[in-house]
Amino acid sequence: MFIMQMVGGHARAQVLQTVIELGIADALANFPMTAAELSQERGLDAERLERLMQCAVDCGLFAVAGTANADGQQLYRNNSNSIVLRADHPNTMRNLVQAVIMTGKPWVNHLTWGMHKDQPLNGNTEAQPRLMTEKDTGGLHSWDWLAADPARDRIFNDGMAEIDNNAGYGLVHDYNWNRYTRIIDIGGGYGQFIKNILTYHKCPTGMIFDQPHVIAAVRKTMLDWPLHKRIELASGSFFDAGTLPAVCNGDAFVLRQILHDWSDADVVKILSCCREALGTTRSKLLIVEQGLGNPLLDHICGARQMDLHMMGVLNGAERSAVQWQQLLSASGFKYGGTKFVRSPFNIVEALPA
Ligand SMILES: C[S@@+](CC[C@H](N)C(=O)[O-])C[C@H]1O[C@@H](n2cnc3c(N)ncnc32)[C@H](O)[C@@H]1O
Repeated sequence: MFIMQMVGGHARAQVLQTVIELGIADALANFPMTAAELSQERGLDAERLERLMQCAVDCGLFAVAGTANADGQQLYRNNSNSIVLRADHPNTMRNLVQAVIMTGKPWVNHLTWGMHKDQPLNGNTEAQPRLMTEKDTGGLHSWDWLAADPARDRIFNDGMAEIDNNAGYGLVHDYNWNRYTRIIDIGGGYGQFIKNILTYHKCPTGMIFDQPHVIAAVRKTMLDWPLHKRIELASGSFFDAGTLPAVCNGDAFVLRQILHDWSDADVVKILSCCREALGTTRSKLLIVEQGLGNPLLDHICGARQMDLHMMGVLNGAERSAVQWQQLLSASGFKYGGTKFVRSPFNIVEALPA
């Protein structure tokens, strides 16, 4: 039984993707509907949709709310799992799901191939090996592949912002961000993390640093943010210390879900650039990632699957506290401990050595 459930993993992910694409959770926002009613509203095949809905219910998405009177057809309603697939839900996860599936699909079929010893995981170039192949990305590095298509890039960045709706609460509330003068979110994407921190912590100001096209997108909406006067924007590359923001005493560099995108060699390069930018200031570097090493937490948070995802998409990795210590010390930092908060993410503190 277990094996048959596991082999259906692909199908379960596809059911999730399909109900999002068809807007089923949105259609069920106000009242339960039968598959026939849903199919009429969405222009779909009623019999096939009935089977999709039954499978979705079996997977834990949606619930049966009884039968419609005359013909005994089942009525479907949202449950606590499907409700966050609604586009208008404050904790929506629909872009996050699509971002993970969109980037995950290309590599999963190459996993066996990627396991072979001496197999260069030559996605695009020897220098950027990974399981996601040239065929999948048209020869582009994953970040350029995202940037090449604004719709794809938006799904990805909105998906990252949705992490804050779901896993960001403890990160914001269980850590004393007020101790910093300015929090500089390196690779901060659309800035949801910084916005949440500054909403609850009144002392610091914030800065979002990211690639130029990401910052250009942020700039377009920033004036609508209530906190925009406390937030600066800057663009460049974290592989080029000269483009990183100048730092003052009391600032903190935050790298959230950045280093898991990169190989150990690249992590050392990024951290070394951060170390150079921090100079002689008494500023901290905070690595915010899912830490590996606690089997129960790893299981609940899906950290091992995310580790394979990072290997497959970007030749990156999730890492344990010991691995962070080694990478930090190879980059001119000393490990300052790990703070655990109510989130799948931990905060690893580091100081210039
Ligand atoms: C996985 S996302 C994490 C976004 C955000 N920190 C979060 O936790 O939601 C990685 C981010 O790194 C940015 N990035 C990738 N390469 C970069 C580079 N060379 N310099 C600066 N940012 C980069 C991407 O644009 C993206 O916003």
